[in-house]
Amino acid sequence: MNRMDQVAGQSSATAILDDNPNFSTGDKKVVPGGEIKTTDEQQDDFTDPFCNADNPQIITFQDVTSAAFRIKNGIEYTPCPKSHLSEMVDMDIYLKKEFLQFTGSFKERGARYALVMLPTEQRKKGVISASLGNHAQGLCYHGWKLGIPVTVVMPSKASLMKIQKCRDYHANVIVQGSDMGEAKKIALKMAHETGLTYINGYDHPHIMAGQGTIGLEIVEQVSNIDAVVVPVGGGGLIAGVATAIKNLSPQTKIIGVESEKCPSFTKALENEAPVYTPNKETLADGLAVPQVGYNAFATTVPLLDKMIVVKEEWIALAILRLVEQEKCVVEGAGASGLAAILAGHLDEFKAKRVVLLICGGNIDTTIFGRCLERGLAADGRLQRFTVTVSDGPGGVSKLCNLLAKLGVSIKDIMHERAFIRDIHSVEVKVVCETRDWIHSQEMRNALQETYDNVCFYDLPMAI
Ligand SMILES: Cc1ncc(COP(=O)(O)O)c(C=O)c1O
Repeated sequence: MNRMDQVAGQSSATAILDDNPNFSTGDKKVVPGGEIKTTDEQQDDFTDPFCNADNPQIITFQDVTSAAFRIKNGIEYTPCPKSHLSEMVDMDIYLKKEFLQFTGSFKERGARYALVMLPTEQRKKGVISASLGNHAQGLCYHGWKLGIPVTVVMPSKASLMKIQKCRDYHANVIVQGSDMGEAKKIALKMAHETGLTYINGYDHPHIMAGQGTIGLEIVEQVSNIDAVVVPVGGGGLIAGVATAIKNLSPQTKIIGVESEKCPSFTKALENEAPVYTPNKETLADGLAVPQVGYNAFATTVPLLDKMIVVKEEWIALAILRLVEQEKCVVEGAGASGLAAILAGHLDEFKAKRVVLLICGGNIDTTIFGRCLERGLAADGRLQRFTVTVSDGPGGVSKLCNLLAKLGVSIKDIMHERAFIRDIHSVEVKVVCETRDWIHSQEMRNALQETYDNVCFYDLPMAI
């Protein structure tokens, strides 16, 4: 029996929890992560038997190939074509379009594999997990298709659309907990009380092996790959993909990408072990996992070539580029690989062959609109300026005519009189859209030639 079979063969999460040393007596003790807890606090904390800091599970290539065989009938074999963006960034870029899975993300692969590997007894009882969205959707959808009951605990800040989707897939959806940490505690407690199997969305060994099947497909689809760029949240995706790629193509570099707002893997590398890293609000909400998984970390570290932290503005710009150039609607996490290239973090791969994992497309419509605006600003196509013009008849109209003549489109305009010293003047704040940065510079020059008092805000990020 290999390591994975042993994990699958555990009769129930509850049985393992009963033996767990973290539940032994004592007034205070150290739990995984190094925190000291009182006995009362420990009673509220139920650990995940598949994710043990003291005994991390490293998945093997064989685990990934077994997963590929077991899930192939329930998962889309997604395309990986050469990107229209290749010329723009001077690299041969290939996009692995995982957002084309039925529920909009790669998470289905691991979820389906974890479900099909359940022992018969656990299949009947069902599974439970905590998730902000993509893992929950994958688990609920495949649980429904396979006839396995699924309960998901989703924190109250999860998007309404994602909550509704899980309900549409006939799952038992519990909206509780202010964040992922709380939702996970609730789900683990329920698993302990009810005998449901807890499936961690990034650290369960079957989840990692399932995600690794993407790597097998990539090697089939693209030859002589120099690098594969993988977005990193809890680390399950990169663990699986790196295991597959490094076995089939050892010279290919594995690059991880995180948002600056949730650099949990980078902090874990510095700390040489997963460590709690407070997350801030990010466009890449799929990557907002405050502590990477123990199994994912142990599996990934020996296979990782580089870890990148990317700024949010580049993620917004990458979302915009993918819409405009590729006609792909992609969420922040899915765009972060391209963001790393646009930001210049991967210039060593100029003229080389690079695969980007476009791993999810579940973006809220309102967030999507905001991302596009931020992307336009980062690209220098959305401009903001203040100009003082005459308050006499035709003063503001002269400004508008100048912008119209230049082909600039006004998005927002506001007048300010009360705080201006010169009683005959008005300060006008304008937000406007141009064709590109050269067009913006044309507009800036024309305004400076016409008016004495013009102030432009911020230089665009991508310039
Ligand atoms: C779209 C998307 N990309 C990447 C990730 C990161 O995957 P992992 O948590 O396995 O690192 C997630 C995680 O939810 C995701 O939803």
